[in-house]
Amino acid sequence: MSRFYVTTPIYYVNAEPHLGHAYTTIVGDALTRWRRLHGDDVLYLTGTDEHGLKIRQSADAAGMSPQAFCDSIAPKFAHAWERLNIANDDFIRTTEPRHHAAVQELLQRCYDAGDIELDTYSGKYCVACEEYYSDEELLDNDHCPIHKRPVDHFEEENYFFRLSRFQDRLLKWYADHPGSIVPEFRGNEALGLIRGGLRDFSVSRTSLDWGIRLPWDDKHVAYVWFDALTNYLSATGFGDSSVDYTQRWPVDYHLIGKDIIRHHCVYWPAMLMSAGVDLPKGWAVGGWLLVDGEKMAKSTGNVVNPLDLIDVVGVDGFRYYVLAETAYGSDGDFSFDGLVSRYNADLANNLGNLAARVATVVEKKCGGIGPAPRTDSPLAEAAAEAVAATTKAWDAVAPSRALEATWGLIRATNAYLEMHEPWKSEPGSDVDAVMGDALEALRIVTLLAHPAVPATTEVIWMRLGLSGSPADQRLPAATSWGGYAGGTAVEKGDPLFPRIKS
Ligand code: MSP
Repeated sequence: MSRFYVTTPIYYVNAEPHLGHAYTTIVGDALTRWRRLHGDDVLYLTGTDEHGLKIRQSADAAGMSPQAFCDSIAPKFAHAWERLNIANDDFIRTTEPRHHAAVQELLQRCYDAGDIELDTYSGKYCVACEEYYSDEELLDNDHCPIHKRPVDHFEEENYFFRLSRFQDRLLKWYADHPGSIVPEFRGNEALGLIRGGLRDFSVSRTSLDWGIRLPWDDKHVAYVWFDALTNYLSATGFGDSSVDYTQRWPVDYHLIGKDIIRHHCVYWPAMLMSAGVDLPKGWAVGGWLLVDGEKMAKSTGNVVNPLDLIDVVGVDGFRYYVLAETAYGSDGDFSFDGLVSRYNADLANNLGNLAARVATVVEKKCGGIGPAPRTDSPLAEAAAEAVAATTKAWDAVAPSRALEATWGLIRATNAYLEMHEPWKSEPGSDVDAVMGDALEALRIVTLLAHPAVPATTEVIWMRLGLSGSPADQRLPAATSWGGYAGGTAVEKGDPLFPRIKS
């Protein structure tokens, strides 16, 4: 059995979960479910980022201790993921002891390797990014390029990670591992950052107490990004001498947003190299979901709560929208009209309509019992193409392409039915042949669409009279044409996706 380990960024608890967070988390969930269908032993990790100045300030503003503040927000993330049917295997909080141990272990290893040294930092810092900026990187009037607000000036004694020593090693590693960052243009951004020259970065603070102490100097707490990145190792048992963390590490994919490429694709691999830990096998970098051209963020005030949207289009309607609407890697524009029109077009009119008409015709013309498909069905080729293209796209972490390929089979099957119009024919072998083919195509669609719309595909599976759930099937074998034997009672049920009037 192969192992598959995939992570989302851990989300800052200064904000409540919004559409931007839900986006990456749903992509990770769908990818996870795709791998599970192939029998992989999957570890899907998400969690919350709870240390650092930003959280400290948010806790102060709320009049709470930082721990109590984190304890009040972290469950909201866990709850949102439950509502969105996210099948994460673990939820890590950076205030947990297991994480504490891992951070100290990683710091100590980098320190022992001679890559962490004491120095003085003097410069600009954006608290919202938890990131240092040089003058050239800032907008006019010393404003942060991401948050468009003034940065702070800092001067203090810090430990520094000697990132500048890693430029050649990183470039060589990426040259030896082509395609490890997808999509490719995001990989080029990472290489551009490395080629542009690497500055040492501070890994500790003395002016802040909300963090993890350096094991060799307890006046300092770890820089929040050093702390946060280590979560991916903490969940594997790194830092616990009784556990072999390499059973899970290296990770297959870190899913991240384009704003955190530098941390994940430059800092993180250098930290791991220094500590003698294997590098990740892959990174999949997503763009932003924009509202009126702006990144959705608490600081911009344009936050959309995903839980409000599922009241309108349902959990699967919402999941489908975020996966299908935007090519992973590129920015996407969120709009309520876009959400509703995609729901109506792809779910109500395509998938929902196919499931309903297949069941209706089987009921009326085949006595409610599904006929077997033909081995030489004209739909068999469309199905094989859909399976191949869907697989290729999921393997490249391209959900919108995967769904496009799967929906190609839905469209082909609807067109096939429209061509033969079995609803107009007398019952008999011609109708049986067409309906057997349509049932088999729908069964294959159900498997391919399962990662995106898990609850709906379970219902369709059941209505087809198939036993178990799509999740119990093993791909690729289960998607071979002819898997449906016929003879099951097919049930119509309520519309899966009632049309929404905008
Ligand atoms: N805590 C850090 C990550 C540490 S990982 C070791 C952080 N947190 S965040 O909550 O601000 O953002 C987490 C992720 O959500 C980032 O990848 C970011 O790109 C993504 N998104 C936040 N808003 C987003 C959109 N509006 N659209 C898409 N993704 C966005 O950064």
